[in-house]
Amino acid sequence: MKVVILAAVLTNYIVVCQAFVQHARLSTVKVANKISSLRMGFDVDLTGKVAFVAGVSDASGYGWAMCRNLAAAGATVTVGTWPPVLKLFQRGLSQGYGEDQKLPDGSDMKIAKVYPLDATFDNAEDTVDVKANNKRYAGLDGFSISEVAEQVKADYGKIDILVHSLANGPEVTKPLLQTSRAGYLAASSASAYSLVSLVQKFGPIMNEGGAVVSMTYIASEIVIPGYGGGMSSAKAQLESDTRVLAFEAGRKYGIRVNTISAGPLKSRAATAIGGAGTAKTFIEYAIDYLKANSPLPQDLISDDVGKAALFLCSPLSRAVTGHTLYVDNGAHAMGWAVDSASLQGVDIPK
Ligand SMILES: NC(=O)c1ccc[n+]([C@@H]2O[C@H](COP(=O)([O-])OP(=O)(O)OC[C@H]3O[C@@H](n4cnc5c(N)ncnc54)[C@H](O)[C@@H]3O)[C@@H](O)[C@H]2O)c1
Repeated sequence: MKVVILAAVLTNYIVVCQAFVQHARLSTVKVANKISSLRMGFDVDLTGKVAFVAGVSDASGYGWAMCRNLAAAGATVTVGTWPPVLKLFQRGLSQGYGEDQKLPDGSDMKIAKVYPLDATFDNAEDTVDVKANNKRYAGLDGFSISEVAEQVKADYGKIDILVHSLANGPEVTKPLLQTSRAGYLAASSASAYSLVSLVQKFGPIMNEGGAVVSMTYIASEIVIPGYGGGMSSAKAQLESDTRVLAFEAGRKYGIRVNTISAGPLKSRAATAIGGAGTAKTFIEYAIDYLKANSPLPQDLISDDVGKAALFLCSPLSRAVTGHTLYVDNGAHAMGWAVDSASLQGVDIPK
């Protein structure tokens, strides 16, 4: 009798052990599958997503780099171009931008459509004067923000990504102390309110889970001599608006709103800041300063921003909103200019 009971207990024990081993094996397979699917999840695939990038007119700026990275991830990329430079850009596109247009697979990036856009106008009625009196707008129609949003809606239905990569300050070369009210308000209108208006008009045609990204500059927080005309003020507004829009548009449309605080790049717009009679232009000084004083003393390239924007526009940043992301080789973290003559003799790591 005892032997029978012992045999039964042993059999049960073996069955339990086998079940345990089987379970452990299955769990290992499940974990392995989970890890490999997570790894696959790191590949950003924006196939089927539509992006509208406002502020692209050549291949030298940050807007172009963001287009290229979004396109490389599979997104359909459309752009909004300021009417005064529209023909120039169309000519550039028809001639091609060579290496600057190449995607990692060797193909040329395609811009699906170029919409004329002047981000200082919200509605059709605001454009009556400029159409009548400015020959750089001759023959153009539908370039206010709400009209462009309507055209994009007619062409694509809804979009997923909205990029604001534009700025304009007519008195940028003047110190704030000499900036006129008109110059200050123009900088704010073109460089900050334009983001508010874009989110207002495009929010209703954005899919839930969509993302808005804009471009800012550290002069919003600390003093950068030469970045004048109220542009520093406009960038401070842009960053504050990013936080408020993140809340409002997050609740209303389920979209995210972030901004990238980028280091200096010799784009067309940055070159226009000028140099006030000095040997180098403002942007050349800014680039040299960045390299000499940043934690990472390396060249900053437009692709660095393009890739950061790709992250902010992709599901990888699903829970990131209202954020100012520095893409500046770490310059924002520095309190001292380590190449300053006053620091001679201090042991600074090269
Ligand atoms: N280049 C830099 O060093 C730097 C650094 C930090 C932030 N940024 C920001 O990056 C963004 C892109 O600038 P970028 O330097 O790459 O130069 P860019 O010349 O490539 O882009 C500026 C664009 O703004 C467009 N624009 C100007 N006024 C407009 C209007 N009223 N409506 C529509 N478009 C208008 C211009 O046509 C141009 O395409 C800007 O917001 C800029 O302030 C630039």
